[in-house]
Amino acid sequence: MAQDTARAVARKGSGGVSERLDADLLGNRRALGAERPGSLDPNTPNVARMYDFYLGGRDNLAVDRAAAEAAERLNPDTRLCALANRAFLGRAVRYLAEQGVRQFLDIGTGLPAMGNVHEVAQSVVPGARTVYVDYDPLVAIHGRALLARDARTEMVQADMRDPAAVLESAAGLLDFREPVAVLLVASLHFIASQQDPYAIARYLMQETEAGSHLVVSHVVWTETTVRAVAPYEGASAPVTLRSEQDIAGFFTVAAAALVEPGLVRVPLWRPEVAVELAAEDAVRVDIVGGVGRRG
Ligand SMILES: C[S@@+](CC[C@H](N)C(=O)[O-])C[C@H]1O[C@@H](n2cnc3c(N)ncnc32)[C@H](O)[C@@H]1O
Repeated sequence: MAQDTARAVARKGSGGVSERLDADLLGNRRALGAERPGSLDPNTPNVARMYDFYLGGRDNLAVDRAAAEAAERLNPDTRLCALANRAFLGRAVRYLAEQGVRQFLDIGTGLPAMGNVHEVAQSVVPGARTVYVDYDPLVAIHGRALLARDARTEMVQADMRDPAAVLESAAGLLDFREPVAVLLVASLHFIASQQDPYAIARYLMQETEAGSHLVVSHVVWTETTVRAVAPYEGASAPVTLRSEQDIAGFFTVAAAALVEPGLVRVPLWRPEVAVELAAEDAVRVDIVGGVGRRG
């Protein structure tokens, strides 16, 4: 991040970053004042807990399981999609750590699961620093207890629809004068178009240093996914489906050039299994992912 914005981030509370927010994003910030994510509501299916259920976790309630099973009835590959997405996250983080990236900003963390970002990153670069960000208070509680257990790892509760707040809260641990990997993995599809997810991605990346990376995965619009996301309508966050071309647009606005193999069905992103096996999964997984690098 350029020096002036780094200083603005450091001037937490002085309004320095907010002054730089686009008009749309300032609108987001005002609208969020009244909103509360529903994770502590036992009657509303919660997207973090539903994902936990697909991954085989235990931090979910009957209401979450009912909604998740409804989604699985509409698309029997829903669980495979979640597992493939989680595996993509791990491979992307390992790849980035192997490229020398030492700082990770994981936005839309979800409940702790296998292959958490700081664990994968530190297995390659022991000094890697990770800031986890999620707007869900339950995720933040679990993250503080189970993820943020060393001085190089923090969990903060913030809403990505207010990206200035996200950067401010990450600036305590991350040094934005050095390359950072910003992870928006299975989280941008929870941002409705009117909340301008492209402005969010651009804002988060616009002043990161050369060598910074953006990682995105996102559910693709298909005839199957259109049906299968219906149970999310009544959940804590509905899903907005986008075309592959629109998803590629996140890398364009971030000025991040896709590294090989580009934006692909997540099983095909640098698979660690035989390509034939990855290809079998890929036809069932309507999630694309990619990693972009800023020059
Ligand atoms: C499906 S989980 C993805 C977890 C993890 N990134 C992964 O891919 O394994 C999506 C997460 O995004 C979070 N999320 C959704 N909208 C958000 C927002 N506006 N700000 C921050 N987090 C958000 C949810 O609370 C949830 O924990």
